[in-house]
Amino acid sequence: MGPIILAIESSCDETSASLIRNGKVLNNIIATQAVHRKYGGVVPELASRAHQQNIVATVEEAMQGPGIRKTDLDAVAFTRGPGLMGSLLVGVSYAKGMALALGIPLIEVNHMQAHVLSHFIDDPKPTFPFLCLTVSGGHTQIVLVRDHLDMEVIGQTQDDAVGEAFDKAAKIMGLPYPGGPLIDQYAQKGNASAFTFPETNMPGLDFSFSGIKTAFLYFLRDERAKNPTFLEENLHDICASLQQNLVYMLLNRLRQASEQTDIKTIAIAGGVSANSGLRRGLQSMGQLLGWNIFIPAFEYCTDNAAMIAMAAHFKFLKGEFSSLDVVPLARMPM
Ligand code: KG4
Ligand code: ZN
Repeated sequence: MGPIILAIESSCDETSASLIRNGKVLNNIIATQAVHRKYGGVVPELASRAHQQNIVATVEEAMQGPGIRKTDLDAVAFTRGPGLMGSLLVGVSYAKGMALALGIPLIEVNHMQAHVLSHFIDDPKPTFPFLCLTVSGGHTQIVLVRDHLDMEVIGQTQDDAVGEAFDKAAKIMGLPYPGGPLIDQYAQKGNASAFTFPETNMPGLDFSFSGIKTAFLYFLRDERAKNPTFLEENLHDICASLQQNLVYMLLNRLRQASEQTDIKTIAIAGGVSANSGLRRGLQSMGQLLGWNIFIPAFEYCTDNAAMIAMAAHFKFLKGEFSSLDVVPLARMPM
């Protein structure tokens, strides 16, 4: 029998716990924090407090289902970073307490590596080397993945993350946080060619999304000055056009990354990989260019502990454990 590991994720606004046995994820319990909706973004102090309120029940629920006792655990894993310091601290402290009480090893996991490794939870799994476009509320990266724990960021955003661009545009339109899924929903019924927004071109394989946010703000302001109900009348077309613009910026870079590295096994991960426009765009670009494409199941796109458990499994096999004085890292390189 392989190792049984409990994994905890608390880097941002989801408190999550998952059990993995011999590389097979047994469950994935997620407590989403609704408290941030009315503020238009994650409020760090409220996130930290909500993690404290949720963590005991979330871990207990994960432990209950598969008939595994705490004394059966071989290790306890946690997200060390990157993320919000106050949020990370809750998961790190809880994991340390458990490891100490049970006398089992601790495994620290890099949240961004874990997003990539969400592709190893279910079949089919990508073969090495592959490229992974990791797109979330905090990151936009093109990662060259050589092995489970051997990854290199070859392109990234120089300012906002693409999820942030979705969320900020939604906020400008008066939609609640997180606005990405709502823009996706409205875009389904809209005409993506109705409006055009500027594309920002960065050197190499890097991205920039702050320009489009500003352009979008001025676009809406100018159109509403001419017609006060412009937004209400054109909501679907505006969302479809904006989404298409963001998706093109992502896919263009991914195509360049594939050409430069000569790698045609391509994956996407992170919260924005749930976007239907990105999924569709990737499918058609992949067909055109002969790519072998990997898109994670919806439940493993946004933050979850199953991906932390998957990463912990590979680290356990290599004997990569952390000491009990490990501290969280708000910024953590891959
Ligand atoms: O990976 P994630 O859950 O958390 C971070 O680590 O940031 O990603 C959350 C981000 C948010 O910006 C949210 O708006 C975006 O993912 N998102 C989407 C969709 N679902 C989630 N963006 C566009 N379309 C979606 N369907
Ligand atoms: Zn994430």
